[in-house]
Amino acid sequence: MTKRILVTQPVPEAAERVLEGFEVSWNRGPRLEPPELLARATGRHGILCLLTDGIGPAILSLPGLEAVSTVSVGYDHIDLTAAVEHGIVVTHTPDVLTETTADFAWALLMAVARRVVEGDSYVRRGRFQGWDPLLLLGSDVHGKCLGIVGMGRIGRAMARRAQGFDMRVAYYDPLLKYPDAAAVTLDELLAQADFVTLHVPLSESTHHLIGWAELARMKPTAYLVNTSRGPVVDEAALVQALSSGTIAGAGLDVFEREPRLEAGLAGLENVVLAPHIASASRETRERMAVMAAQDLKAVLEGRTPSHPVPLTGHRRAK
Ligand code: GLV
Repeated sequence: MTKRILVTQPVPEAAERVLEGFEVSWNRGPRLEPPELLARATGRHGILCLLTDGIGPAILSLPGLEAVSTVSVGYDHIDLTAAVEHGIVVTHTPDVLTETTADFAWALLMAVARRVVEGDSYVRRGRFQGWDPLLLLGSDVHGKCLGIVGMGRIGRAMARRAQGFDMRVAYYDPLLKYPDAAAVTLDELLAQADFVTLHVPLSESTHHLIGWAELARMKPTAYLVNTSRGPVVDEAALVQALSSGTIAGAGLDVFEREPRLEAGLAGLENVVLAPHIASASRETRERMAVMAAQDLKAVLEGRTPSHPVPLTGHRRAK
């Protein structure tokens, strides 16, 4: 029997070649609203989805469904408890986007510290009158302290970049150890760091990990960079911290209620905003799509996928 797949949204073309031989329903239009997504998923053995698709119990309990493969490293949009309950294999795309995401987090860090976006707008608006020793003064990056929250793959890639900038690195991670930097508590990190960069997955324990109390612990000269998930930061508290000078600035690739922004955020000059593009290089997005497609194909052909999401700890409490 030819197995049937739903690809929920447009993805790089290379994934199409991987899925040759399956009966694939490609959604080449805009994102499907939940009822339509459920209808299109019905009768499918596999789903290739994106992080903007909510994959909940209604989809995961569909008869015949075997696997959900997301073209993202994050999988907070998939109900893992329901996946375990219905024996659905879930796969994601770690590793391939590590360096690209760290490059972008670094770009946000540099952009906000050195006021690159403000400078760009200043020049475009015809305001540049010549070199001025007091114009758009920012903060040095080299020689400062980088505080990394979450020392997984991307956190480590940030630590490696920091070496080239002669930075001291402190990190907070309750589970992972990294020998080349100082392990500290979250409070210590917030108090010490000149740049705080977030690299944790979104879960119950990381939701609003950075709220008003945490922002207030940061130095008034410090910057926050978030390329993880929006809800890790209490965005209303962040707007308050940025507008009151509690912290110096922020570089954000993700938002609490994406794609909506907290009121007041877009009007602030000390924040650099990006539309969730940290992994968006042509090469990486293609590698992610191919990896997700290959893993989906593996499961549907009865093989073990290379990048399964760990499902331990996601059994429903009896
Ligand atoms: C992007 O945010 C991803 O999870 O891959």
